[in-house]
Amino acid sequence: MERIDQIKKEFFEHASQVSMPEQLENLRVRFLGRKGKVTEAFSLIKDIAPEIRPRFGSGLNQLKKELEAHYEELKQRLEDSAENEDMLDVTLPGRKTFPGRKHPLLKIADEIKDIFHSFGFTIEDGPEIETDHYNFEALNIPKSHPARAMQDTLYITEDVVLRTHTSPVQIRVMEERKPPIRMIAPGRVYRRDTPDATHSPFFHQVEGLVVGESVTFADLKGVIQAFAHRMFGKDARVRFRPSFFPFTEPSAEYDVWFNGRWMEISGAGMVHPNVFRAVGIDPGKFSGYAFGMGIDRVAMLKYDIRDIRLFFDNDMRFLRQF
Ligand code: PHE
Repeated sequence: MERIDQIKKEFFEHASQVSMPEQLENLRVRFLGRKGKVTEAFSLIKDIAPEIRPRFGSGLNQLKKELEAHYEELKQRLEDSAENEDMLDVTLPGRKTFPGRKHPLLKIADEIKDIFHSFGFTIEDGPEIETDHYNFEALNIPKSHPARAMQDTLYITEDVVLRTHTSPVQIRVMEERKPPIRMIAPGRVYRRDTPDATHSPFFHQVEGLVVGESVTFADLKGVIQAFAHRMFGKDARVRFRPSFFPFTEPSAEYDVWFNGRWMEISGAGMVHPNVFRAVGIDPGKFSGYAFGMGIDRVAMLKYDIRDIRLFFDNDMRFLRQF
């Protein structure tokens, strides 16, 4: 029985030193292996007095169980710590984080703001949910006017609409401020259009309005030309085509040529006298020009994007390119 206690003591002494798999294997071979101390002790049984043989036998069996259990525990502990070391492997390459970035439309809107800000324009804001009055009436588009059909919208009530353009911000600013006015107003607008490569039920515009005592169409052309050069570079060209808007007279649309193609960017014109009257500005004394530029169009031209829906799908493969 002393022999049993001795083996046990030796085993635990050695076991307490084990910190590597090879040491653990040595321990196993020395005590539990085919020629190990426990196996060796079993071979003593036959030489032992029959009276104490059962006690010795069961003592040995118990010893064997106890040592095996401890061996298994040590083995598990070594495996666990090996896993922990993997987790702390400082030689692994760092995990890449993906920093957020601006949506291409926001980037273009920021550039447009910077450019006009440098021309001395203020930056204004207006509601996306508008009244019929600001979206249509005050802009010289009465209820029965066919121009309403061109900008058919989503009505919230009979009098409240999702704005179809940023032009109502012109009215809001002119109601509050006397000329001279030189402002832009970027924002989201809505139309009842079926989505395709060039149409989306919502898109973005930046309104421009300049009012003063002798503002002319030549000023409009000069500012737009300067804008195009800043946005697209010196090779960009601008062309104006006659058009119609109820709130400007004369009216035009302009296209920008860049990167081998013309793109219609905007409507524009000289502020209609009725619009001035609606906000209490004397059309005999003041004149002004306005434009409503498509931010999405500017972005499509600048980045050579052929389908407007890409801006709103939020596919990371697209967005990551900017
Ligand atoms: N509001 C017009 C549109 O959305 C664009 C425009 C703005 C035209 C200002 C003339 C002057 O189509």
